[in-house]
Formats: sequence, structure tokens, C-alpha cells
Amino acid sequence: MDRDLIKNKIKVLRDELDFHNKLYYDENKNIISDYEYDLKMKELITLEETYPEFKNKTSPSVKVGGKITKEFNSFKHEEKMLSLSNTYSDEDLNDFDKRVKKIIDKNDVEYVCELKYDGIALSIQYENNIFRRALTRGDGNYGDDISNNVLTIKTLPIKLKNNEILNLEVRGEAFISKSNFKLLNEEKKLKGEQLFSNPRNTASGSLKLQDSSEVSKRKINCYIYSLKTNSGIISTHEKCLDYLKSIGFNVPETYKKCKNIKEVKNYIRYWESRRYDLDVETDGIVIKVNKLNYQKVLGNTSKSPRWAIAYKYKAESKVTRVRDIIFQVGRTGAVTPVAMLDPISIGGSIVKRASLHNHNEIMRLDVRLNDYVNIEKGGEIIPKITSVIREKRNKNSKKFLFTTSCPSCGSKLEITDNQAVSYCKNYNDCKPQVSGRVEHFISKNAMDIDKLGPETIKGFIDNKIIKVPADLYNIEYNDIINLEFKLEEKGKVRSLKEKSCNNILTSIEKSKSKPFSNLLFGLGIRFVGKTTAEKLSNHFKSIDNIINASYEEIIGVDEIGEKIAESVTMFFSDETNITHIQNLKYAGLKLEEDRISNLSNKLRDLIFVISGKFLNFSRDEIQDKIKLNGGKISKSLSSKTDFLISGENMGPKKKIKAEDLGTKIISEDDFISMI
Ligand code: IVH
Repeated sequence: MDRDLIKNKIKVLRDELDFHNKLYYDENKNIISDYEYDLKMKELITLEETYPEFKNKTSPSVKVGGKITKEFNSFKHEEKMLSLSNTYSDEDLNDFDKRVKKIIDKNDVEYVCELKYDGIALSIQYENNIFRRALTRGDGNYGDDISNNVLTIKTLPIKLKNNEILNLEVRGEAFISKSNFKLLNEEKKLKGEQLFSNPRNTASGSLKLQDSSEVSKRKINCYIYSLKTNSGIISTHEKCLDYLKSIGFNVPETYKKCKNIKEVKNYIRYWESRRYDLDVETDGIVIKVNKLNYQKVLGNTSKSPRWAIAYKYKAESKVTRVRDIIFQVGRTGAVTPVAMLDPISIGGSIVKRASLHNHNEIMRLDVRLNDYVNIEKGGEIIPKITSVIREKRNKNSKKFLFTTSCPSCGSKLEITDNQAVSYCKNYNDCKPQVSGRVEHFISKNAMDIDKLGPETIKGFIDNKIIKVPADLYNIEYNDIINLEFKLEEKGKVRSLKEKSCNNILTSIEKSKSKPFSNLLFGLGIRFVGKTTAEKLSNHFKSIDNIINASYEEIIGVDEIGEKIAESVTMFFSDETNITHIQNLKYAGLKLEEDRISNLSNKLRDLIFVISGKFLNFSRDEIQDKIKLNGGKISKSLSSKTDFLISGENMGPKKKIKAEDLGTKIISEDDFISMI
């Protein structure tokens, strides 16, 4: 075939498929059958493969996700996956010891101490000594089957070194080591991509990826800490660990049997600072009663075992000096003071800066230039100044004054929110605000365009390729190939090569299939975090419904308060934002929830009344689940009601009425089992 003819044929197919995709996503319309759509797609893919010179990363054939993203199957845990109750002090430990000794022979109590690895809990099943399935913790009762991803863990045996033929379940913690995490981020930095935030979230996000070849690049590891199946031969937890090791599991050598609570405390002190030298992140110690028959006697509460407890280390505190206080502008225009510190090692990493949040925080601490301060790593990630050491202060020091103009564009700042936060109102032209909004839009919980990093975004903005997030969807290969931009490290210049350009374009294209709630979160509406975005999208179903909703309708949504409702109404009454949304719509993004047909007919024609608060669902979510499974919802109890789902704090009157009517009262867990 003539080259021009082929080129033209490819163009026609792409335009047609783009047109149908847009119709489908924008207007919920299908004007051709799935079969015809698939035929066209197949023809396009064949042509692109035969004539690779015409391949283009923005082609609809590259688009993944949406309809073809498969979800993980969920399975019920054979035994509920509980969590541990936490303690922070020696007194709490003494109380735990006393509680244990009240129930079991106090002269026979032994504990096993282990490190508490900071990762993701896994339940792994083996059938006839062969790996069968790996589940996440999920809601404790049901977990996601992430077997394909767990199989990429090299230290996890596929076949057990066991003489007997056994079916086993073990539990453990999947994690990314500190050294691997560093390598992963170095690689990301080189490519100018968004960095991972911390090893735990990276491990958790990686295990939920659909592409296991990508997961295997993350080099996830796993420590096993418990054996769930026991024929009765093994009598102690310590022996379980030895046995697990002998059949091929990765059990760290750091555990220790302790004869009494004093030895437990010594173990805790021993690891308090040494844990930073380990390659795995740990946030505490787990203390377990050693004898398995005693564990059985002690049993569990509905949330945690009575035979085990976690001792969590307090955040490490150190003294350093404030060398400077600078101001940063965020995506909302809020100006945040940041203390530049004499570098100091804390929690295993070097800290050079700490956020001071706002005016009030500076006033509360009365922190001044050159002050000596105590700093802590809150949640082990973001360092904060906890206090100023006044005795060490220079006598001539002056109160530190908050800036009155924007450190980036020079605009006069406006103070709102009870004098606490200063805002730069130059919304459209203040560069950190513009890039901050794009960075938020592409972040993991929003559109997840992971092949774009902050420096590349700044480069795009400086070169006038983008100004608002919607512009990302108009970028073409020729706009960015060989584009040069300055890196933060002085003097360095980066230029985009073919591979990076293609990766960026594919990652932008892929983002079009992100659910509506991600997009809503990505818009960066003040006070609308991920969960609120999910609640709004669940309730209103589409951006148009939210735009048209009154303040009263928004505040009427479960768990949405005045502050959020005000912010949402204000956002959608701004013409610039509406234009932006139109452009996102035009780019083919999902601005409404996917139309999901009934998941099942398990609840067909059954009428439910719900009351109280639920652990696993919001009210909107539980209502959706009922409808999706064929059931109906009624606001009040009547003789027609089949079930009353009772949550926490259900009104006593409802209970009495249901009993009078003979309506079955079921718990949230019963409901989950029904569906
Ligand atoms: S034993 C009731 N041992 O901590 C569960 N858990 O809140 C008994 N964890 O997500 C678990 N290291 O995955 C146990 N050495 C260890 C652990 C450990 C980390 C995690 C566990 C769970 C959480 C419990």
C-alpha cells in the first residue's frame, strides 16, 4: 500500500476512535457496538505494528486503563486479620504484663519480642507446599488477591522445603528496603520524574499495581512473622519462627525470647537507636506471649489480640540551630515559613529544614534567627520544631517578622483565617502557584502522571508549553523533544530525549482513564482532599451535578461541613475554573462516575433501612452497594422492610420499632457477607 494511504488510514482510525472515546466519556453514549469499536482498534494496532514509523504515543491504541483495567478479586480471610494495640510507655507495658498474668500462670509467662516492620501486612496461603494465593489485609475480613505482585518477591518461597505435604497460611510484612528506596528515587530523579514519598507508601502502592513486571522493578521484600496453621506439634511462637525459617521463609534474626517484662524493656531500649542502622524501616517493637496455648486462652478482642501488643517508639528529638527563615508559596497561594537548619542526622536521615506552618506557629514558638531549637521527626517523615532553647538565645536577637510581600512575585500578601495564613492573590501569574497546581493535578491520588517531575513541569511552564493542567493534554511530541530547561542544582541543564518524551506523553494519555473522583481531587479545591472528593463524586456522580448543586445540597452530603461546602461553591462560581473544566472535558477526561451496571442480584427486591455509623462505608457507599446488588433503600422502617443494617450509635427507638415489626437487624459484617 502507498505510504501516504497508510498514513491517512491510520489518521482516520485514530480520529474515529478518539471521537467514540470522547462520546463515551463525555456523554455516556455508544453509537457503535463494542465489537465494531474493537475491530477498528485491532486494525489500528495492526497497522501501527506493521508500520512502526507511524507509531505515536498519543494514539488511542496506547490508552490503557478505564474499561480494560482489571480490579483485584477479593477473598475472605480464613481468620480475621487483626491489628495490634499500641503502647508508648513502660507503664503501659507493665499493665499489659499484669493483664496477661491475671489470666495465665504468672510463673510461666515468656514473651517473644520482634521488630515492628513498617510495611504492608500480607496473608499468604500454600497448598501442598506450593504458593496458592496472597491477600492484602483489606478490611480485616476480606483482602485483595495480589498474588501476581507478591510472586515478584524474591525472598518468598514458591515451594516450601517441607517433608510433609502441608496446606499453610503465613502472615508477614512486605516492604521496600531503605537502600532500594533510595535507588528507586535516584532513578526517578535522573528521569525528572515525581519522587516516591516514603518506602511504606511505595511498597503499598506498588503491590496494588496491575502490571507485575513494573512491580518486580520495585524489588519488594517480605518478612514473615507468623504461622497461622499449626497441627498442634509446635508449642511456642519462637518455635514457629524457627520452623518458618527452616521451610524457606525470610524470618529476620532480630527476634528474642524474653523471660519477663524487664527483659522486654531491655530489648526495646536496645533497638531504640540501633533500628536506624537496619535496612528496613521500623516504628516499634511487637511483644507476643510465647506459648501458643496461652495465646489461645488469652484470645482476641474484636480489633486486636490480647496476647500481643506493639510498643511504638516516640519520635527522636535533637537540638540544632536555625540559620535562616525563608518563605515558600504553595499552590493555593498560602505562604509558609520554612526554617533552614544546621544539618543534623535524625531518624536515620539528614534534616536541613523544618516547616513553621504560619504566623501563629512563629508566634507560639517565638523562634528567631540563630536560635537553638529542639526538632522532632513527626510521623518519622516531616521534621518539626517543638521548642526553642531560650537559655541559649543571643541577647541581641530580635522578634522575627513575617513577610508582607510574596517571596516569588512580590505581590502584597493578604492575611485571612484568623490572622494565621498569608495569601498571595496573584492566582494566575505567581509561578509557584501555577506549578503547584499542576504538580497537585498530576500527583498519585489525582491523575497520577508519574513520568512528569516538578522540574520538568517548571521547564514546561517557563517555556510556555503549559499554564494550566488542561494544557498537558495538548502537548505534542514536537513541542517537547530536545526541550532544554534548568535544573535546581546550579548550572545544570536538562534536555528531553525521545524516550522521556514518549514516556511523558504515554503517562499523560494514561491519566485520561483515572476515575472522576481522582480528577475532582486533582482540581485542588481548598479543603477537598481525597476522601472528600470520593464522597462528593459518589453522591453527585458528575461534575455538572456538582457545578449545578446549591450550597444547601452540598452541605446535605454525609460528612460534608460548612467549610468544604463554601469552598466548593466558591470554586465553581469562578468562571476561570469553569473554563478549565470545559478544557479538561474536551481533552477526554472522566468528568463523571463510570456507569456500573448491577454487580449482582444478590439483594434483588430486598428492602433495607440503614441506621448509625459504619466502619467500612460512608452512608452513600452503603446505599450504592445495596443498589448495585439489586436491593432497595427505604428511609423509614415499615412492615415491608426486610433488613435494618445497624451501625454504631443506632438510635434505640429504631431498634425497638424493628423488633416490633419483626424486621431482621443485621450488622455491617453480616451485610458484607450478604454481598
Ligand atoms: S504480629 C494482630 N508482628 O503491624 C496482628 N505484626 O497493627 C499480629 N507488623 O499491619 C501481627 N511487624 O502487619 C506482627 N513483627 C510483627 C510485625 C507486625 C509489623 C504489622 C502488621 C500489622 C500491624 C499490626
